[in-house]
Parts: sequence; C-alpha cells; structure tokens
Amino acid sequence: MISSVDSPLGESWDDSESFVSNRGAPETPAAPQRGASAIRVSVAVVEADPPTRDRIARQLGDGPTPFASIEELAGRLSGAVPVVVVLGPSCAATSELGIAERLIEAHPNLGAVLVVDELTTTLLQQALRAGVRDVLTVGGDTEQLLGAVHRVAQSLDATPRRPTAPAAPSSDPDSDLPEMNGKVITVFSTKGGAGKSVISTNLAIALAQRTGQPVCLVDADLQFGDVAVMLKLTPHHTLVDAVNSLDRLDAALLSSLLVTHEQSGLRVLPAPLEPAFADQVGASEMVQIVECLRSFCGYVVVDTPAYFNDLVLGLVEVSDNVVMVAGMDIPNIKNVKIGLQTLRLLNTPMEKLMLVLNRSNSKVKLDIGEVERTLQVKADALVPSDVLVPQSVNKGVPVVLHAPKSPVARSIQQLADQFIPVTANSKRRR
Ligand SMILES: Nc1ncnc2c1ncn2[C@@H]1O[C@H](COP(=O)(O)OP(=O)(O)O)[C@@H](O)[C@H]1O
Ligand SMILES: [Mg+2]
Repeated sequence: MISSVDSPLGESWDDSESFVSNRGAPETPAAPQRGASAIRVSVAVVEADPPTRDRIARQLGDGPTPFASIEELAGRLSGAVPVVVVLGPSCAATSELGIAERLIEAHPNLGAVLVVDELTTTLLQQALRAGVRDVLTVGGDTEQLLGAVHRVAQSLDATPRRPTAPAAPSSDPDSDLPEMNGKVITVFSTKGGAGKSVISTNLAIALAQRTGQPVCLVDADLQFGDVAVMLKLTPHHTLVDAVNSLDRLDAALLSSLLVTHEQSGLRVLPAPLEPAFADQVGASEMVQIVECLRSFCGYVVVDTPAYFNDLVLGLVEVSDNVVMVAGMDIPNIKNVKIGLQTLRLLNTPMEKLMLVLNRSNSKVKLDIGEVERTLQVKADALVPSDVLVPQSVNKGVPVVLHAPKSPVARSIQQLADQFIPVTANSKRRR
C-alpha cells in the first residue's frame, strides 16, 4: 500500500513527502522486517490519457500526484525530496523518453518506472537507456507495480539520506547492497540431463533458507535454460535486459531486473526467453553481471549448459566453487572425466572443484568408490535417485520445498551446508 500525506498539486507539492510503506512490496520469507518501516519519498504519475492515469494512480493507492506530461512534472520538481515517478504508456514514445532521460539526468533523486501497453525488447532497451529503472505492462498485476515502485523508492531513499551511515542490518535484498562480497558457485556438467538444473535450483533455495542472506540464481544455459520453469516463475526481465543495460548497470538496477521466487525469497536472473537472443550474452558481459550480483548477494549460483564455451570458462574463472554434476552411468563418467581434464589443463585450481554424484543409488552396477577412483576426485555429495525429483520438477516446486525431509532434499541441504561458514552454519534454521 502506498500512501502520501497531503501532496496537492499546488506550489508545495515538491516539498511534501509521501511515505512508501514497505508493505507495498511483495512479502518474501527472506524479508521479515518488511512492513516495519516507511520510506520517505513522493510518488507521481505522468500520463496524458486521464482514464489510464486514474487507473495507474488507483493501483498505487490514494497518494500519487497526477501529471499530464513530463514537462508539467519537471516544473514542480525542486529536488528537495526523492520522487518516484510512474510514467504511463503515453510516455513510451521516443520523444517522451528523451524528455524523461534529461529529467532523470538532471535530478539524481528522481527514479522512474515505465508502464507500457506492450513490452517489446526494443522498448525495454530504449527505456533502460533513458535511465528508467523498471518497465511493466499496464494490465500487469498491482503487486508487481507496487514492488517496482518500492524498490526504486528504497534505492532513492538510501542514497542521498544516509551517505556515510553504516548500513542497518537487514535481510532485505536491496538494503543489503553495499555489504556483500558473495560466493559464486557454478554448477556444471559435460553431460546433458545430468541434473545441473535440479541441483542448482535446489542448492540455491537451500542456501537462501539456511543463511537468510540474499541468494541469486542465474540461468546461464542461454538456449535451453529451464530454471524459470522449474521454479514456476513468469520473468519480466532476463539476462538479455541486464546485458542491454550494462553501461549503466549498478546493484540497484540489476536488483530491479531480478524476479523473486516468493516461496523461498530466492532472486532469479532467468535465461533469455528466446534461444535467438542467446548470442547477445557474451562471456565478459556475464562475468560483469555476476560480479555485480555478488556485490549485493551472499551467494550467486549459476546454472550452465552442458558444454564448454567462453561463457562457461569465464564463469569457472570467476567462481569460488565449481560443482561438477555426474550421473551414474559410463557415458556420464567418461564425459565428466574429460571435463575435469579440460579444467586441469586450463589451470583451474582443483580446490575450487566439488563433485556431486547424482542418482548415486541407481541400480546400475557402478560402484561409488570406483567412480571416484576413475575421476580422481572424492564425491562431496551423493544425491539419490528419487521419483520425487521429476514430480517436483513437473509441479514447479523444487524438492527441498516439496519434500524437505526426503533423502534427496537432505543430500542437497548437506551440500549447501558445505558452502556456509561454520559461524553462520551454527545459526542455521534447520
Ligand atoms: N536425483 C534425481 N532423481 C530422479 N530424477 C532426477 C534426479 N536428478 C535429475 N533428475 C531428472 O533428470 C532430468 C534432467 O535433470 P536436469 O536437472 O534438467 O538436467 P540438466 O540441467 O543437467 O540437463 C529432470 O527431468 C529431472 O527430473
Ligand atoms: Mg539444465
């Protein structure tokens, strides 16, 4: 809910303050303190079409101050109070976005969210380049709009008002931005179907649950990424949007591009929606994005495709740990052995590598000790084969949430614990 105190259209508008309540953002278990405090910013809506303007204003609650044009808003800004402006569909024209860009540049404590009739990649790029923080569709759900306004409000509120104050301890992902130097964990296998996506989604959720820190899962399987499907998410932004806004990418902007998995609080940066967009994401871009994510997340887990390419090699280099997933059959073991040899040839520090044997209890007559000897690596986790896994995949609820006490969930929780420092580990929830 967003409300404002007396924000009339009169002379005093720019000096009045609205209070964006934290209740405006979707609740997540990772943000228990939400609702406890209010953010002091003004909220404005700019839209030429009165019914559309009213509709957006209603979605935002009673408080936002309406304007018919960006110029009208510009005339009222004094810069005294941070302002979040929701730009309506009439502001999506190139000429209007140009005006918005100049306004945003001139007012560092103004943050804009654009609401459009139809979201195209071109429009999204234009808007992000103009400095707009988030783009949503007009018919979209109110929670999303409130969440976007809240995130922008929070970043505006934090920047000018508390420049030297130490960040307050909080589990809110956005307010933790300056504190983190998160661990990057890349989950890889040289064999498709080995279980990379199952392990990475469940590992990321287990880390989020057990540490209470912000955790982000990146789907770097650019062509066939299925993290979003496995988590039943409807992404509005993907890695492509992050790449397109690289020239102005900071923690606040990147955070606004992530989709939150409500059940766990996990933040997700999904793969491109179309395989055709995959080549827009290069290795150096991916590394920059991961580096930015680790600046405000405790853990960044990366799911990958089943082959070595520049992108995977860049990720391996930047990662604190590489989790190699091997299935329990001869082709899997052969391919993982080749993968490990390749990593050794590339001088990857072997301390980084962790081996997960997936479907370790399969009745396939492969002995775990024999597999370890062949690979010359000891397994760090044994994940049993369980029908609960495909069931949970089909339900879109990862097994650590679907059946948290099952042996398969336990094995992934134990894997997660290996990444958690002992001091934090002793405070684990379960
Ligand atoms: N431990 C397991 N037990 C049963 N089925 C599994 C297990 N791990 C993975 N699977 C199944 O194998 C399939 C492939 O897993 P996935 O994680 O998508 O592989 P990858 O990402 O390596 O291609 C999934 O449909 C999943 O249900
Ligand atoms: Mg996969």
